[in-house]
Amino acid sequence: MEKIVVEKSPPLQGTVRVSGAKNAALPILAASLLGTEDIILDEVPNLKDVEIMCEVLKSLGSFVEYLEPNTIRINSKNLNNYETKYELMNKMRASFLVMGPLLTRLGKTKNSLPGGCAIGARPIDLHLKGFKALGADIKQNDDEVSAYSDNLIGNTVYLDFPSVGATENIMMAATMAEGETIIDNAAMEPEIVDLSNFLNKLGADIRGAGTSTIRIKGVKYLGGARHSIIPDRIEAGTLMIGAAITKGDVTVENVITSHLKPITAKLKECGCIVEEDIDSIRVIGNNNLRAIDIKTMPYPGFPTDMQAQFMALMTILEGKSTVIETVFENRFMHVEELKKMGANITIEERSATIVGIKKLIGAEVRATDLRAGAALVLAGLIAEGKTYIDEIYHIDRGYDKIEDKFRKLGANIYRIEL
Ligand code: UD1
Repeated sequence: MEKIVVEKSPPLQGTVRVSGAKNAALPILAASLLGTEDIILDEVPNLKDVEIMCEVLKSLGSFVEYLEPNTIRINSKNLNNYETKYELMNKMRASFLVMGPLLTRLGKTKNSLPGGCAIGARPIDLHLKGFKALGADIKQNDDEVSAYSDNLIGNTVYLDFPSVGATENIMMAATMAEGETIIDNAAMEPEIVDLSNFLNKLGADIRGAGTSTIRIKGVKYLGGARHSIIPDRIEAGTLMIGAAITKGDVTVENVITSHLKPITAKLKECGCIVEEDIDSIRVIGNNNLRAIDIKTMPYPGFPTDMQAQFMALMTILEGKSTVIETVFENRFMHVEELKKMGANITIEERSATIVGIKKLIGAEVRATDLRAGAALVLAGLIAEGKTYIDEIYHIDRGYDKIEDKFRKLGANIYRIEL
């Protein structure tokens, strides 16, 4: 079993390059099931979740090979299986994203109900609502869900909540449905725009991604393309907080600055200097950072995937900070772990109050989910002594060698085998 050890570190200094976005890579890999010619993806991050999605694609009959460490070639011409194995689905919730592509390409799909981070019920009703609107027959029991249709037909789908996964799955299913599909109250995340750009390169006809109304005109067939995954705004944000929390001076490169607006705004609000360049951002921390308030929202609101990391920072901000989590109903699992390090946090339903203290103390903690793990790494950088983080497979799901990037900036962080 591996643990990450973080020792109290000097202020982080230097420049670090951000990897491709996990949340763009996963749906784009799933969408690769749709194309019948060679697909080459660049800037694919080296993550456990990507590895699992590649296994899912192979299990369905796609050919997948690495051309370079971050470049993958996929060919799904011989796609021949519509069932995803329980072992794979159970490892990662995003495996559910193969449903839309399989439904439209093969006319059927059967999947175990997915696993992933334990941050709430995370139902899939909106995905299924979309498939149904396109004419699919849905069968569901406690263990699995199937969708069938000989002939998907475009329709208007209103999402009761702008779910990222549902928007992506319905968009993919609609690429080869007959006629026009409209997704209203669609999620507007940058990763949806990246997926839409990729699908259009394959020959799809999608307009409006990045707004709340997406229009998809069905086409007969999708081919091949080369596409580069957008940079990971959450990894970038995590490294930016590394600068703030250690009172350091860090430049993150390979970012799309507009995707980071809520993060830069909140860092400025607490007193950091943030300088934006064309594709990089510099964050300079200092001794006088003040409390801030955060409310998570769908994009372009403040991202729930940055909530835990900001809470790590709030533990030492002067004054009383608050966090309201509106996206997931159970995303405060990091609170108990931060409290083990001395943090002063109280929770009431979906809001947390954090009273800043002078210093945290190293402790034995657990990465309860992916972003919670990142929050503990950040807290460990400023805690007296050593912080031992257990269950780090959660962190490896979504961060490409997190310790290497922090170490490059001067952090005392390493992995141990027990
Ligand atoms: C994606 C991201 C995840 C991020 C989340 C919100 C990927 C691979 N993962 O997850 O990192 O935290 O967006 O930004 O891109 N919901 C329903 N019914 C549904 C689907 C969702 O009620 O059918 C609810 C969920 O329970 C949750 C909320 O909608 O409370 C947001 O979920 P959603 O946007 O779908 O997140 P994911 O796509 O799973």
